[in-house]
Amino acid sequence: MARHIIFLGAPGAGKGTQAQRLSQELRLPHVSTGDMLRASVQSGSEIGRRAAAVMDSGALVSDDIIMGIVAERLTLEDALAGVIFDGFPRTVHQANALDALLERGGSQIAAVLHITLDDEEIVERLSGRRVCSGCGAIYHVRYHPSQVSAVCDVCGADLVQREDDQPEVIRKRLAVYQAETAPLVAYYHDRPAYHRIDGHGETDEVFARIVKAVRETD
Ligand code: AP5
Repeated sequence: MARHIIFLGAPGAGKGTQAQRLSQELRLPHVSTGDMLRASVQSGSEIGRRAAAVMDSGALVSDDIIMGIVAERLTLEDALAGVIFDGFPRTVHQANALDALLERGGSQIAAVLHITLDDEEIVERLSGRRVCSGCGAIYHVRYHPSQVSAVCDVCGADLVQREDDQPEVIRKRLAVYQAETAPLVAYYHDRPAYHRIDGHGETDEVFARIVKAVRETD
Protein backbone atom coordinates (compact mmCIF):
# COMPACT_ATOMS: atom_id res chain seq x y z
CA MET A 1 0.00 0.00 0.00
CA ALA A 2 1.20 3.55 -0.71
CA ARG A 3 2.92 5.25 2.20
CA HIS A 4 1.72 8.85 2.44
CA ILE A 5 3.30 11.02 5.13
CA ILE A 6 2.11 14.46 6.26
CA PHE A 7 4.21 17.21 7.86
CA LEU A 8 2.06 19.49 9.97
CA GLY A 9 3.28 22.58 11.82
CA ALA A 10 3.41 26.35 11.90
CA PRO A 11 5.29 28.39 9.30
CA GLY A 12 9.01 28.05 10.02
CA ALA A 13 8.65 24.99 12.25
CA GLY A 14 11.06 23.10 9.95
CA LYS A 15 8.65 21.15 7.75
CA GLY A 16 10.50 21.84 4.48
CA THR A 17 13.95 21.19 5.96
CA GLN A 18 12.89 17.88 7.47
CA ALA A 19 10.66 16.81 4.56
CA GLN A 20 13.59 17.22 2.12
CA ARG A 21 15.72 14.96 4.32
CA LEU A 22 13.01 12.36 4.88
CA SER A 23 12.34 12.31 1.14
CA GLN A 24 15.98 11.28 0.54
CA GLU A 25 15.91 8.78 3.40
CA LEU A 26 12.69 7.02 2.29
CA ARG A 27 13.07 7.69 -1.46
CA LEU A 28 9.59 9.14 -1.64
CA PRO A 29 8.84 12.41 -3.48
CA HIS A 30 8.65 15.62 -1.46
CA VAL A 31 5.34 17.31 -2.31
CA SER A 32 5.30 20.88 -1.04
CA THR A 33 2.19 22.81 -2.04
CA GLY A 34 4.08 26.05 -1.24
CA ASP A 35 6.89 25.10 -3.67
CA MET A 36 4.36 24.06 -6.33
CA LEU A 37 2.53 27.38 -5.98
CA ARG A 38 5.78 29.38 -6.11
CA ALA A 39 6.74 27.47 -9.29
CA SER A 40 3.33 28.39 -10.79
CA VAL A 41 3.87 32.05 -9.88
CA GLN A 42 7.30 32.01 -11.54
CA SER A 43 5.97 30.35 -14.68
CA GLY A 44 3.19 32.95 -14.97
CA SER A 45 0.46 30.30 -15.25
CA GLU A 46 -3.20 31.05 -14.53
CA ILE A 47 -2.95 29.37 -11.10
CA GLY A 48 0.20 31.35 -10.38
CA ARG A 49 -1.51 34.64 -11.24
CA ARG A 50 -4.40 33.82 -8.91
CA ALA A 51 -2.13 32.66 -6.08
CA ALA A 52 0.60 35.33 -6.11
CA ALA A 53 -1.11 38.16 -4.22
CA VAL A 54 -2.72 35.77 -1.74
CA MET A 55 0.64 34.21 -0.87
CA ASP A 56 2.43 37.53 -0.55
CA SER A 57 -0.22 38.65 1.95
CA GLY A 58 0.21 35.52 4.11
CA ALA A 59 -3.35 34.25 3.51
CA LEU A 60 -4.23 30.78 2.21
CA VAL A 61 -4.85 29.92 -1.43
CA SER A 62 -8.34 28.49 -2.07
CA ASP A 63 -9.02 24.84 -1.23
CA ASP A 64 -10.20 24.22 -4.81
CA ILE A 65 -6.89 25.30 -6.34
CA ILE A 66 -4.92 23.29 -3.79
CA MET A 67 -6.97 20.10 -4.21
CA GLY A 68 -6.63 20.43 -8.00
CA ILE A 69 -2.83 20.56 -7.92
CA VAL A 70 -2.54 17.81 -5.27
CA ALA A 71 -4.92 15.42 -7.08
CA GLU A 72 -2.97 15.96 -10.30
CA ARG A 73 0.38 15.41 -8.54
CA LEU A 74 -0.81 12.10 -7.08
CA THR A 75 -1.52 10.73 -10.55
CA LEU A 76 2.19 10.86 -11.47
CA GLU A 77 3.98 7.55 -11.44
CA ASP A 78 6.52 8.50 -8.77
CA ALA A 79 3.64 9.02 -6.30
CA LEU A 80 2.41 5.43 -6.50
CA ALA A 81 4.52 4.26 -3.55
CA GLY A 82 3.52 7.32 -1.48
CA VAL A 83 4.60 10.94 -1.03
CA ILE A 84 5.78 13.25 1.71
CA PHE A 85 3.35 16.17 1.99
CA ASP A 86 4.76 19.46 3.27
CA GLY A 87 2.32 22.29 3.96
CA PHE A 88 -0.69 20.21 2.96
CA PRO A 89 -3.37 19.69 4.16
CA ARG A 90 -3.79 23.06 5.76
CA THR A 91 -7.52 23.30 6.40
CA VAL A 92 -10.05 20.78 7.70
CA HIS A 93 -11.68 20.87 4.26
CA GLN A 94 -8.37 19.84 2.62
CA ALA A 95 -7.87 17.07 5.21
CA ASN A 96 -11.34 15.66 4.51
CA ALA A 97 -10.76 15.88 0.76
CA LEU A 98 -7.39 14.09 1.10
CA ASP A 99 -8.92 11.27 3.15
CA ALA A 100 -11.60 10.81 0.46
CA LEU A 101 -9.03 10.94 -2.36
CA LEU A 102 -6.78 8.33 -0.72
CA GLU A 103 -9.71 6.09 0.18
CA ARG A 104 -10.78 6.06 -3.48
CA GLY A 105 -7.26 4.93 -4.39
CA GLY A 106 -7.29 2.22 -1.67
CA SER A 107 -4.65 3.88 0.52
CA GLN A 108 -4.46 5.98 3.68
CA ILE A 109 -2.14 8.23 5.65
CA ALA A 110 0.79 6.32 7.17
CA ALA A 111 2.12 9.10 9.42
CA VAL A 112 1.22 12.63 10.50
CA LEU A 113 4.35 14.36 11.83
CA HIS A 114 3.36 17.45 13.78
CA ILE A 115 6.44 19.61 14.43
CA THR A 116 6.04 22.02 17.35
CA LEU A 117 8.13 25.16 17.96
CA ASP A 118 7.83 28.32 20.12
CA ASP A 119 6.68 31.49 18.32
CA GLU A 120 9.86 33.36 19.27
CA GLU A 121 12.03 30.68 17.62
CA ILE A 122 9.72 30.65 14.58
CA VAL A 123 10.23 34.36 13.98
CA GLU A 124 14.01 33.97 14.39
CA ARG A 125 14.12 31.08 11.91
CA LEU A 126 11.89 32.73 9.29
CA SER A 127 13.54 36.13 9.36
CA GLY A 128 16.97 34.53 8.74
CA ARG A 129 15.82 32.03 6.12
CA ARG A 130 17.29 32.11 2.62
CA VAL A 131 16.23 29.76 -0.18
CA CYS A 132 17.98 28.76 -3.37
CA SER A 133 16.39 30.33 -6.45
CA GLY A 134 17.58 27.30 -8.46
CA CYS A 135 17.02 24.05 -6.55
CA GLY A 136 14.97 25.21 -3.54
CA ALA A 137 17.56 24.18 -0.91
CA ILE A 138 16.83 25.87 2.44
CA TYR A 139 19.44 27.87 4.41
CA HIS A 140 19.55 30.14 7.43
CA VAL A 141 21.99 33.06 7.74
CA ARG A 142 22.98 31.94 11.24
CA TYR A 143 21.93 28.30 11.72
CA HIS A 144 22.59 26.84 8.24
CA PRO A 145 24.71 29.34 6.31
CA SER A 146 25.93 28.50 2.81
CA GLN A 147 29.70 28.11 2.36
CA VAL A 148 29.89 31.15 0.06
CA SER A 149 27.64 34.02 1.12
CA ALA A 150 24.31 34.11 -0.82
CA VAL A 151 25.34 31.25 -3.16
CA CYS A 152 23.78 27.76 -3.02
CA ASP A 153 26.19 24.96 -1.98
CA VAL A 154 24.24 22.45 -4.08
CA CYS A 155 23.72 24.16 -7.44
CA GLY A 156 25.55 27.51 -7.29
CA ALA A 157 22.40 29.65 -7.89
CA ASP A 158 21.64 32.81 -5.87
CA LEU A 159 20.03 32.58 -2.45
CA VAL A 160 17.00 34.82 -1.98
CA GLN A 161 14.62 35.84 0.80
CA ARG A 162 11.00 34.75 0.30
CA GLU A 163 8.51 37.62 -0.18
CA ASP A 164 6.41 36.25 2.70
CA ASP A 165 9.33 36.23 5.16
CA GLN A 166 8.90 39.96 5.93
CA PRO A 167 8.02 40.60 9.63
CA GLU A 168 4.44 41.80 9.07
CA VAL A 169 3.65 38.89 6.71
CA ILE A 170 5.17 36.40 9.18
CA ARG A 171 2.75 37.72 11.83
CA LYS A 172 -0.18 37.29 9.45
CA ARG A 173 0.91 33.73 8.52
CA LEU A 174 1.11 32.75 12.19
CA ALA A 175 -2.40 34.11 12.80
CA VAL A 176 -3.72 32.25 9.74
CA TYR A 177 -2.03 29.07 10.99
CA GLN A 178 -3.81 29.35 14.35
CA ALA A 179 -7.19 30.01 12.75
CA GLU A 180 -7.13 27.61 9.79
CA THR A 181 -4.49 24.92 10.30
CA ALA A 182 -4.15 24.36 14.07
CA PRO A 183 -7.61 22.66 14.09
CA LEU A 184 -5.98 19.85 12.10
CA VAL A 185 -4.17 18.77 15.25
CA ALA A 186 -7.52 17.77 16.75
CA TYR A 187 -8.52 16.24 13.41
CA TYR A 188 -5.54 13.83 13.41
CA HIS A 189 -4.71 13.60 17.09
CA ASP A 190 -6.53 10.35 17.91
CA ARG A 191 -5.18 8.40 14.96
CA PRO A 192 -2.33 5.94 15.57
CA ALA A 193 -0.51 7.67 12.66
CA TYR A 194 -0.25 10.97 14.62
CA HIS A 195 3.14 11.89 16.15
CA ARG A 196 4.04 15.10 17.93
CA ILE A 197 7.67 16.03 17.23
CA ASP A 198 9.58 18.59 19.29
CA GLY A 199 11.09 20.95 16.68
CA HIS A 200 13.61 22.58 19.02
CA GLY A 201 17.30 21.75 18.82
CA GLU A 202 19.71 20.96 15.99
CA THR A 203 18.32 19.81 12.65
CA ASP A 204 19.96 16.37 13.12
CA GLU A 205 18.32 15.92 16.53
CA VAL A 206 14.89 16.80 15.14
CA PHE A 207 15.46 14.46 12.19
CA ALA A 208 16.34 11.60 14.58
CA ARG A 209 13.01 12.14 16.38
CA ILE A 210 11.21 12.02 13.03
CA VAL A 211 12.93 8.83 11.88
CA LYS A 212 12.05 7.17 15.21
CA ALA A 213 8.39 8.17 14.81
CA VAL A 214 8.25 6.96 11.21
CA ARG A 215 9.80 3.59 12.18
CA GLU A 216 6.99 3.14 14.71
CA THR A 217 4.54 3.25 11.81
CA ASP A 218 6.34 0.45 9.86
P1 AP5 B 1 4.62 27.17 2.52
O1 AP5 B 1 5.68 27.30 1.54
O2 AP5 B 1 4.03 25.84 2.80
O3 AP5 B 1 5.14 27.86 3.87
P2 AP5 B 1 4.84 27.55 5.40
O4 AP5 B 1 3.93 26.44 5.74
O5 AP5 B 1 4.45 28.88 5.92
O6 AP5 B 1 6.13 26.98 5.92
P3 AP5 B 1 7.53 27.52 5.67
O7 AP5 B 1 8.04 27.04 4.33
O8 AP5 B 1 7.57 29.01 5.89
O9 AP5 B 1 8.34 26.87 6.88
P4 AP5 B 1 8.85 25.41 7.14
O10 AP5 B 1 8.11 24.83 8.29
O11 AP5 B 1 8.92 24.62 5.88
O12 AP5 B 1 10.32 25.77 7.67
P5 AP5 B 1 11.76 25.59 6.98
O13 AP5 B 1 12.12 24.14 6.95
O14 AP5 B 1 11.87 26.38 5.72
O15 AP5 B 1 3.38 28.11 2.14
C1 AP5 B 1 3.57 29.43 1.66
C2 AP5 B 1 2.22 30.00 1.23
O16 AP5 B 1 1.68 29.20 0.15
C3 AP5 B 1 1.12 29.99 2.31
O17 AP5 B 1 1.20 31.12 3.14
C4 AP5 B 1 -0.15 29.96 1.44
O18 AP5 B 1 -0.45 31.21 0.92
C5 AP5 B 1 0.26 29.06 0.28
N1 AP5 B 1 -0.05 27.63 0.53
C6 AP5 B 1 0.86 26.59 0.56
N2 AP5 B 1 0.23 25.43 0.81
C7 AP5 B 1 -1.09 25.72 0.95
C8 AP5 B 1 -2.23 24.93 1.22
N3 AP5 B 1 -2.15 23.60 1.41
N4 AP5 B 1 -3.42 25.56 1.29
C9 AP5 B 1 -3.54 26.89 1.09
N5 AP5 B 1 -2.49 27.71 0.82
C10 AP5 B 1 -1.27 27.12 0.74
O19 AP5 B 1 12.68 26.25 8.12
C11 AP5 B 1 12.61 27.66 8.37
C12 AP5 B 1 14.04 28.19 8.64
O20 AP5 B 1 14.54 27.56 9.84
C13 AP5 B 1 15.06 27.88 7.55
O21 AP5 B 1 15.90 28.97 7.40
C14 AP5 B 1 15.82 26.65 8.07
O22 AP5 B 1 17.16 26.64 7.60
C15 AP5 B 1 15.78 26.90 9.57
N6 AP5 B 1 15.75 25.67 10.37
C16 AP5 B 1 15.04 24.55 10.12
N7 AP5 B 1 15.24 23.64 11.09
C17 AP5 B 1 16.11 24.21 11.97
C18 AP5 B 1 16.70 23.79 13.21
N8 AP5 B 1 16.44 22.58 13.74
N9 AP5 B 1 17.53 24.64 13.85
C19 AP5 B 1 17.79 25.87 13.34
N10 AP5 B 1 17.27 26.33 12.17
C20 AP5 B 1 16.43 25.51 11.51
